Formats: sequence, structure tokens, C-alpha cells
Amino acid sequence: MFITIEGVEGSGKSSTMKKVVERLKKEGYQIVTTREPGGTPIAEQIRNIILDVNNTNLDARAEALLYAASRRQHLIEKVWPNLKDGKIVICDRYIDSSLAYQGGARHLGIENIININMFATENTWPDLTLLFDIDPEIGLRRIAQNNNREVNRLDLEKLDFHRNVRKTFLELAKKYPNRYVIIDSSKPQNEVENETYKIIKERLNAN
Ligand code: TYD
Repeated sequence: MFITIEGVEGSGKSSTMKKVVERLKKEGYQIVTTREPGGTPIAEQIRNIILDVNNTNLDARAEALLYAASRRQHLIEKVWPNLKDGKIVICDRYIDSSLAYQGGARHLGIENIININMFATENTWPDLTLLFDIDPEIGLRRIAQNNNREVNRLDLEKLDFHRNVRKTFLELAKKYPNRYVIIDSSKPQNEVENETYKIIKERLNAN
């Protein structure tokens, strides 16, 4: 089972998933958690180029291709081998981030981004995608209050950019209703955690 988590900056997806995975692991589930861009040494090197705040003139298509390159390397070295071993792989961001950020917010078009990603991933879609949905204004405010979090090149985009990201995620949820579940991330943290846990358990039990 290949699960991905998605959302705008400050949606709380990563910290929620950390708690939920602890709970599932205690029950004996074999789970590998990873993230994009990065997750393996080569992919982390690509990540550094993409997120470097000094790379202000990185071209949008070049950016999209770098995400796809990092995605492929990560699939080959980490995701596919673990899925083959029967593990549950939970990845923090995947193809839908490219669709929302590069396809939607950078206006490269969803179809173009699907095309380069189908080449990169050999048509590997997640089984389940959890969208942690929140107004980006609240998300960005949360980030600003969290001093531990490093600021990256995409965090520096204007609010409108992040609004477009959110809008595209919600459109993707409509386009792929079987794969997508939307979680209201503006709810209290323990409710978001419980809901996330319930959704994953239901899917695991159905398999
Ligand atoms: P990261 O620090 O991992 O952010 P977060 O904690 O919000 O997940 O940075 C990843 C950034 O890259 C984030 O701003 C989203 C963006 N991104 C894309 O634009 N396209 C992609 O395909 C992926 C995977 C991420």
C-alpha cells in the first residue's frame, strides 16, 4: 500500500502523520515513512538545488523536471523496494504536489505535469492520498510561529500562489475521488490525528 500525504505549507500533515504512524507501528504494522523531494542521498542533492533560496532564477519547467527526477530516484531506491517487501510506504508529498504547485500555481498545466511524471514514475500512482486541507493564510501563519522550520524557496511565494496550490489540490480531489480523502486540518490537532488514523485503518482493513 502506497500512501501519500499532501497539503499547503503549514497544513500540519507531517506532524500529524508522525503521531499516527507511531500508533500504527505499535499495533505491528510495518511502515516506512519518507518524503519528497529527497528521501535518498541523490534525491536529497536534487532537493537542495530546488529549495535553495538563492536559486531565484530557476525556470519553472526546469523546476518541474527536477521534482520528477528526484521522484524517480526515490521510487527506485526506496519506494518500490519497500512496497515489494510488503511494507506500507507513506510519503510526505508526491505527484500531486507537482500537479498543484507546478501544474496549478506555476501555470504549467496539469496535463503537462502528468505527462512528465508518467515518464518518471512509469505510471505509479498512490493507492491513497490524504489531503490536509487548510486556508493557506492560517498555514503560513503557523509556519511563521514555528522557529524550528527552515524557510525554503517556495515558502517565499506570495499568498496568492499558495491559494492556487490549495485550489488545485481541491480540484484534484474531485478528479480522483477514489484515491483522495480530504481532512479538515483547521480542526483541533487530536481530532485531525484521530480522523487520519481512522481513514488509514479502514483502508488497511479493506485490503
Ligand atoms: P518541504 O520543506 O519538504 O515542505 P513541507 O514541509 O511543506 O512539505 O519543501 C517541499 C517544498 O516543495 C514545498 O514547498 C512543496 C514543494 N513541492 C513542489 O512544488 N512540487 C513537488 O513535486 C514537491 C514534491 C514539492
